[in-house]
Amino acid sequence: MAVARKIVVAIRKGGSGKTTTAVNLAGALMLLGKRVLLVDLDSQGNATRAMGVDREAITLTVRDILAGRAINVKDAVVSKAWNQYAQDQSLDVLPSHEKLGNTEMGMAVQTALAQLGMGDDPVDAMQSIAGLLKIFETSYDYIVIDTAPNPGPLTLAALSAGDDMLIPYELGAFNDDGLVHAFKTFREVQLNSNPNLTIHGILFTKTDNTLFSKEEVDSMDQYSGHIYPFRVPRRTLYNWANNNGVPAVVARPSDEATQPYMQLAETFING
Ligand SMILES: Nc1ncnc2c1ncn2[C@@H]1O[C@H](COP(=O)(O)OP(=O)(O)OP(=O)(O)O)[C@@H](O)[C@H]1O
Ligand SMILES: [Mg+2]
Repeated sequence: MAVARKIVVAIRKGGSGKTTTAVNLAGALMLLGKRVLLVDLDSQGNATRAMGVDREAITLTVRDILAGRAINVKDAVVSKAWNQYAQDQSLDVLPSHEKLGNTEMGMAVQTALAQLGMGDDPVDAMQSIAGLLKIFETSYDYIVIDTAPNPGPLTLAALSAGDDMLIPYELGAFNDDGLVHAFKTFREVQLNSNPNLTIHGILFTKTDNTLFSKEEVDSMDQYSGHIYPFRVPRRTLYNWANNNGVPAVVARPSDEATQPYMQLAETFING
């Protein structure tokens, strides 16, 4: 049986475009006829909101599944359609919860206590996320996972169970160690828990038409083999779309600003 390809969007740096990338990649894959599940693993719930999931429509969240409170985990999935833009197309969202961070912290504490021979059996983040993805993987072509900016147990668990790591990166932020850290995390996960994980690529987000200094260009040299040949431009369209609960690529599929996400989706489909 075919199983979904699991794409984990991750980088520790806040505001680099993880959520926007996860939401628009999921939307672009939907437009291309694929069965898609977006999993929101960030307690901020930004992906859940950006998909326009109505709070009222949320009965269960990923947190309930991890805490063993969902009897039928598939009940937690919310189907989203944007019929004014994409008729007869939809994708599924597994929403987040603001207290997911507590669950994550609780998992870390329980694991530490269990290692000291204290406390109950720990809820293992690795096993919980792997188990969750196993349940869903036969129902979709792609599972796109949005992660939190802190590289906590849930992000590591998603990478441990994933196929591809996708790194959104805001060009011009060269002086931070976001990419260094992302590659370090990748190598650790690959070595310790998931030899099959690959870095699918680095996506430059929120780009302007500015020229970069020689130092900036040189500092990217070591990553050049991983950088996609397309970049996402900085456009207010993305803020508008995120605030209006529709992926920009679904609302404006022919706009030049959203083409990079269509190309990204095609890259996944073709290779
Ligand atoms: N291409 C773009 N053009 C303009 N604004 C953008 C673009 N991509 C993302 N943004 C905006 O930048 C902000 C941060 O983006 P986003 O939420 O996707 O980043 P993030 O990495 O998920 O952040 P966090 O680390 O907090 O989860 C948001 O306000 C979003 O609307
Ligand atoms: Mg985010």
